[in-house]
Amino acid sequence: MLSKEFEVYIDGKYYPKKEAKISVFDHGFLYGDGVFEGIRAYEGCVFKLNEHINRLYESAKSIELIIPLSKAEFKNAIIETLNRNKLKDAYIRVVVSRGIGTLGLNPTLCPKASIIIIADYLAPLFEGKNATAIIAFTRRNSVTAINPMIKSLNYLNNILARIEANKAGVNEALMLNQNGTVCEGTGDNIFIVKAGVIITPPPSAAILLGITRQVVIDLAEKEGIKVVERSITVHELYNADESFFTGTAAEIAPLVNVDGKLIGTGKPGPVTTMLIDNFKKIRKRGTPIYS
Ligand SMILES: Cc1ncc(COP(=O)(O)O)c(C=O)c1O
Repeated sequence: MLSKEFEVYIDGKYYPKKEAKISVFDHGFLYGDGVFEGIRAYEGCVFKLNEHINRLYESAKSIELIIPLSKAEFKNAIIETLNRNKLKDAYIRVVVSRGIGTLGLNPTLCPKASIIIIADYLAPLFEGKNATAIIAFTRRNSVTAINPMIKSLNYLNNILARIEANKAGVNEALMLNQNGTVCEGTGDNIFIVKAGVIITPPPSAAILLGITRQVVIDLAEKEGIKVVERSITVHELYNADESFFTGTAAEIAPLVNVDGKLIGTGKPGPVTTMLIDNFKKIRKRGTPIYS
């Protein structure tokens, strides 16, 4: 819940939520021109802050967006936003938009990028429930259109799939890539478990290279479980022993039903449960908010 003194960072200043506004001429609003990150803090520590900041700057580089802060300044601004809002457990939304320009889409006519940092409480995406999904008709963007590795403000591709999920009465949509293999959820990466091996689509499958995805790969390997990054067909997904989504908002969510077919037993499996338990143990080992 938002407290009264809830403040949003915009371009170096803090504004109460009601006064936190950007121009209608900002190209982030007009064209979805910009990049963003979703980050979590647990028990007073920001989880994987460096990794999120690095991905933000990589996304910005790909769209030729100059972020008017150094990485160190950016991290400090995030920590200050959490402190000002007295948040120890939070979801932090960082937005860098192209900034104010003309009505035309030419980004060179936007002199300065705008930075917004919103910190708030957010329950895990599936709110502790298991995920159920459909295979969406909407395919994930081709890497030669908007590369999904760019975490851009233009999320309409994912939103179209999400609308399909809503209509089907499930809580997530699985998107296939242009080759027709399993790509990712609308805001999370996908894993399957088959015969004790964990499998997840590789970076070349047109996925966002999730930070939680890497955390889970590392956790699994620490437990001696083999992790393979390779393409997954829909048939393999239907017939997996277990499946789960990973993401900053979703954390680790068991996927128990796809297109009305139970995955494994239709309940969270032992590998998924172990990963969730281990994730809960390590997630508070982030960058401390208080110096
Ligand atoms: C499309 C998409 N895939 C995967 C993820 C998971 O990435 P991360 O674990 O870095 O949050 C997200 C969320 O950021 C996403 O939007």
